[in-house]
Amino acid sequence: MLDSHGRVIRDLRLSVTDRCNFRCTYCMEPDERFLPKRSLLSLHDYLQIVDVCIGLGVRKLRLTGGEPTLYGDLDALIERVGQRQLDDIALTTNGWSLDADRAATWRAAGLNRITFSLDTLREDRMAAITRSTTSVETVLSSIETARQAGFPRPKVNVVMQRGVNDDEAIDFAQLARERDLDVRFIEFMPLDSGRHWDRDIVVTAAETRSAIEAALPLQPVDALHDAQTSVNMAFADVAPGRIGFIAPVSAPFCGACNRLRVTAEGMVRPCLFSRREWNLRPMLGDAASLAAFLQDVTWTKQAGHGIGSEAFEQPERGMRAIGG
Ligand code: 5AD
Ligand code: SF4
Repeated sequence: MLDSHGRVIRDLRLSVTDRCNFRCTYCMEPDERFLPKRSLLSLHDYLQIVDVCIGLGVRKLRLTGGEPTLYGDLDALIERVGQRQLDDIALTTNGWSLDADRAATWRAAGLNRITFSLDTLREDRMAAITRSTTSVETVLSSIETARQAGFPRPKVNVVMQRGVNDDEAIDFAQLARERDLDVRFIEFMPLDSGRHWDRDIVVTAAETRSAIEAALPLQPVDALHDAQTSVNMAFADVAPGRIGFIAPVSAPFCGACNRLRVTAEGMVRPCLFSRREWNLRPMLGDAASLAAFLQDVTWTKQAGHGIGSEAFEQPERGMRAIGG
């Protein structure tokens, strides 16, 4: 799958549910409605999409949501995609619950990585950010469960917001050292359905990095490879843990983007910031048509998000409905 800017698609982000049990302020409004269940795709449909994408050169799969652990057939999906020809299969979760046996089954089935979202280490802030009753401690214990189930160095995504959690960069860096985690700081993108995004709230990767380096010097881990979205660092004193910076706002990596997104109800979005999405449902059941359709849609993938430009328009749907 090739787009009109010469980028080759290798990475499928498949959202398996639009439902979430959190309402993170940077993502979702408290009163948002979910799609009717019957409009979501089935396990069979998701597998067909994955298979057709593999046939078109996809090598990486990320299962996202909403909160993918709320999808009833997740275990079966992981088991089946684990048997496919993929280099990497990952799952994103908010960590509200992770059963040890379940995690071990996923690992054995071929899931390579679990990425957790956690934006604060302060219990008093957790409810305000996530609008859920899940505690920081619960998420930290899910992370340990993942490690014990054989997922090495779990990843933790932290969305930084000025005045909300931007004083916690060093605490997260300490956590990465103490627990050998890969903590990634993500710049807040205009993908919140409440449309509260404002440039002034964005904490740039450079700001976070200098806050950490004032206390804990970092050094680059590896040479950047093409489709890499994060700058990965290790601690200069060779302590365990990694720190990553993802800077879609201050340093867009669109030129190297190799991703395609499919939502839980079968809409194809070539870009997180696509203004249009394409319904693949009519093509289900006919692999050749689905393949041709995905190739056509991929061709329209926009060059970049253009957050900085005057003409920038925020997409209608928030991250929860698009899939991280
Ligand atoms: N900006 C940046 N990251 C976001 N995420 C959700 N909404 C936004 C946003 N507006 C993150 C989640 C999750 C990942 C999939 O995307 O925290 O870690
Ligand atoms: Fe749910 Fe993730 Fe959105 Fe938070 S960011 S509300 S965990 S989908």
